[in-house]
Amino acid sequence: MLSRRSFMSHISSVALMTALPRTATAAGAVDLTAAPAQQQIAPEGYPGTGIWAINGRMPGPLLRLDQGTRLRARLMNRLPQPTSLHWHGIRIDNAMDGVPGLTQDPVPPGGSFLYDFEAPDAGTYWYHSHAQSVEQVERGLQGPLVVDEVEPPEVDHDVVLVLDDIRLSQEAQVTDDFASPRDRSHAGRLGNLVLTNGREAWSSPVRQGDRLRLRLINSANARIFTLGLEGFRAWQVALDGMPLALPRPVPDRIVLAPAQRVDLIADVTAAPGAEAFLVHHVRDNGYAQAAFPVSAGSSAARSAPDPLPPNPDHPLDLANARQLVLKMEGGAMGRMQDAVFQDTTHDMRSLMRLNQFWALNGAVGRPETPWADLSRGETVRVEMVNDTAFAHAMHIHGMHFSILTPAGTPGPLRDTVLLQPGETRHVAFNAHNPGKWLVHCHMLAHHAAGMGTWVNVRA
Ligand code: C2O
Ligand code: CU
Repeated sequence: MLSRRSFMSHISSVALMTALPRTATAAGAVDLTAAPAQQQIAPEGYPGTGIWAINGRMPGPLLRLDQGTRLRARLMNRLPQPTSLHWHGIRIDNAMDGVPGLTQDPVPPGGSFLYDFEAPDAGTYWYHSHAQSVEQVERGLQGPLVVDEVEPPEVDHDVVLVLDDIRLSQEAQVTDDFASPRDRSHAGRLGNLVLTNGREAWSSPVRQGDRLRLRLINSANARIFTLGLEGFRAWQVALDGMPLALPRPVPDRIVLAPAQRVDLIADVTAAPGAEAFLVHHVRDNGYAQAAFPVSAGSSAARSAPDPLPPNPDHPLDLANARQLVLKMEGGAMGRMQDAVFQDTTHDMRSLMRLNQFWALNGAVGRPETPWADLSRGETVRVEMVNDTAFAHAMHIHGMHFSILTPAGTPGPLRDTVLLQPGETRHVAFNAHNPGKWLVHCHMLAHHAAGMGTWVNVRA
């Protein structure tokens, strides 16, 4: 059991209770204005932090729509930089994917762009800037996106928890070392303050016996969260938005890489007067990532939840799959000798001078021609090889992939997979969604330093 004393950030939780503002999107377009703002992020006594926010705060508003309906959102750029929005995990119409230079022009300062797309899958997603993302996502251009099932499971509380970190100066301002060669060549930009829904301490009251749906979203630049639950009996029901065929009891440790999500159904078992926790584990310490003060309710145990209703299926034909390799190389303490950057082969020393450190299949940065040119509907099997000394969170836009088990059978669907140093994983997907799809590491400084490519799916 964790002792209260080990909870570094658990301070006067009641005063800090907060809910995410919800933006109704039933009809018409929702306005999303990207602009500078101020927010109290550091603990009491520190000044407010200058952020770049969607509609005034970070994370931005909870966007919520019903499965199969459309989201129409007008992005207005009031920032000093071009920007865009990417709808992470949505199997979206390619033109709405939000990748400057691949699917749209960046939205210039003063400009706007209408995102208009259908959400075919229910689940927990998020949106974030896809321009200068090391800086723009860090400064706050990100928010949660929930697509509701036609028949959602019955719960007492549906709780969205955006887990993040941020690097602040002593004056509580976002440090502007966004191009730091050390971050780019090592683990990425890690913050010095861990946040839940934009706060250093987050809590919300519950009753004993309440059933919660916890939607955990890792929106951090590079932090891998290792999480646990205290005072709950809980099941995992979805990963990266996609339902698991069978709910699984929550393991001791949930590892959530940047951009990944997990949905949990969690019944409060802690006694009235106590607190239940989402715990953030850092080595041997546990910190309160989110706290749930418990009042009297019912102590009767509930039965395990049913699986969530499945999303549309795009079956795999593994026997006839196209085989691809995605080899990750480079970084500090790596063994990459040279790689191609902008049509020229550079040795590692020369790449370092260009502040570039990583390659996918020998190429640094998004090449002119796609890594693969795929036929619509074909099955693609990818061997992902992490030949580096760091972990990477590989994300494929536009299509979820199945993580193959060691026996080669399809496992759960994800849109982002974590590869530990030296690790190889096999994934497979049905190339059902035509268009130009980015493939990159979601440690955003790695992407900026070369770890990105793309696939084309022919119409
Ligand atoms: Cu969440 Cu290419 O992004
Ligand atoms: Cu990476």
